[in-house]
Amino acid sequence: MYSALYKYVIHGGKPLFGEIEISGAKNAAVGILPAALMVDGVCRIENVPQISDVTLSLDILSALGAEVRLVNKNTVEIDSRHIRNFTVPDDLCRKMRASYYLIGALLGRFGRAQVSMPGGCNLGVRPIDLHIKGFEKLGATVDVMGGFVYATAPESGLRGSTIYMDQVSVGATMNVMMAAAMAKGLTVIENAAKEPHIVDLANFLNTMGAHIMGAGTDVIKVRGVERLHGGTYSIIPDQIEAGTYMACVAAAGGNVLIKNVIPKHMDCITSKLEEMGVEIREDGDNIRVIRKHHLRRTNVKTMPYPGFPTDMQPQITACLALARGTSMVNEGIWDNRYRYVDEFKRMGARIQVDGKVAVVEGVERLSGAPLRACDLRAGAAMVVAGLAAKGTTEIGEIHYIERGYDDLVGKLRGVGAEITLIACPDDDANSASSAG
Ligand code: UD1
Repeated sequence: MYSALYKYVIHGGKPLFGEIEISGAKNAAVGILPAALMVDGVCRIENVPQISDVTLSLDILSALGAEVRLVNKNTVEIDSRHIRNFTVPDDLCRKMRASYYLIGALLGRFGRAQVSMPGGCNLGVRPIDLHIKGFEKLGATVDVMGGFVYATAPESGLRGSTIYMDQVSVGATMNVMMAAAMAKGLTVIENAAKEPHIVDLANFLNTMGAHIMGAGTDVIKVRGVERLHGGTYSIIPDQIEAGTYMACVAAAGGNVLIKNVIPKHMDCITSKLEEMGVEIREDGDNIRVIRKHHLRRTNVKTMPYPGFPTDMQPQITACLALARGTSMVNEGIWDNRYRYVDEFKRMGARIQVDGKVAVVEGVERLSGAPLRACDLRAGAAMVVAGLAAKGTTEIGEIHYIERGYDDLVGKLRGVGAEITLIACPDDDANSASSAG
């Protein structure tokens, strides 16, 4: 993984041709790896993406006493039979929002967890009150003190309950599902989130002996089991990684086969790109993306699945910045997800942000500029814009992008993009942009 000492340099304005293979889903992996702690046996997990959030997750599992063995670059075996430690190291937790899944996993199996309040991308206020309410409904005592969350089950263990989520939350749904997997009796999660990675986590747990029904609908029922056993599971393809490469082709033009996707998961993104004049052909596990003509304007509102994903908002905005006409983007999930707009303006984009709405007036072309990634998907969107822009774009702070994209440079070079990873002096990386 690369530090602030590296940046991407893109010579843009060239269409993309060829094939890109999609890796396993980051958002599924960061739930499934902690869930492996619940298994009293060895789990073999396949199609694990090589990204820094996975490396961190595996470091945390090792620090807790799990035996972690890399079988090959995308397969890992995790043996959690001898976990004795329920306190997650603070420095590791802070680097990753998804570390909150350790609470559900440890509480679910061992009845206690001590996890520092999670870090991750700064997208606005990111509370965990729904997670805590869910654990409490299962009978746990939860305290937040000195930057840590302390969760403890009663002596008799967690007990199934009906939990109504008053807001659709991916994180809370996954966390409560884990805690409930080994609680006594039946848990019903109402108004559950329906994202593909929720179904993937349920499928993983069920493969290991859990009894979870209804994942992918808004009512999930979990009948607690006493023990989870070992097994083999393969993570689903990454919807957002695939969507990002579709956006690259939409912005830069060309004809690319995106391989190893679940086309159904892509519907929310495919239909928007089609509205914008991009040709998309599904073929089994592959999607062909062709962009020959100028992009057309459209409006986008991000919503929980099956709506348009908030994790694709910056990338589609990069495309809209080049579309004919004026588009409206409405961010329906987070308060602070337009921090990249100032960077886009340096490329000549015309975007005005007012609260959760961005008005995007398409321009004929963007011009390359030195930029700095400010979060994971914002960084990905800068790559999309850089590939389409005329001239050279340099993107600093790429450690954000490496949290979620497996071999981004290699995959894009494979379709003819001129993108290089280069070392730069610290000062250079930090002076790439004044925005922060
Ligand atoms: C969200 C996205 C997910 C994306 C991730 C990172 C949705 C529904 N979820 O997941 O697709 O990958 O951001 O960009 O699109 N909330 C509370 N209390 C809580 C938990 C959440 O009020 O305890 C609120 C949040 O402030 C937010 C909304 O619920 O407004 C959705 O949050 P949630 O789905 O939990 O966030 P993530 O799991 O991070």
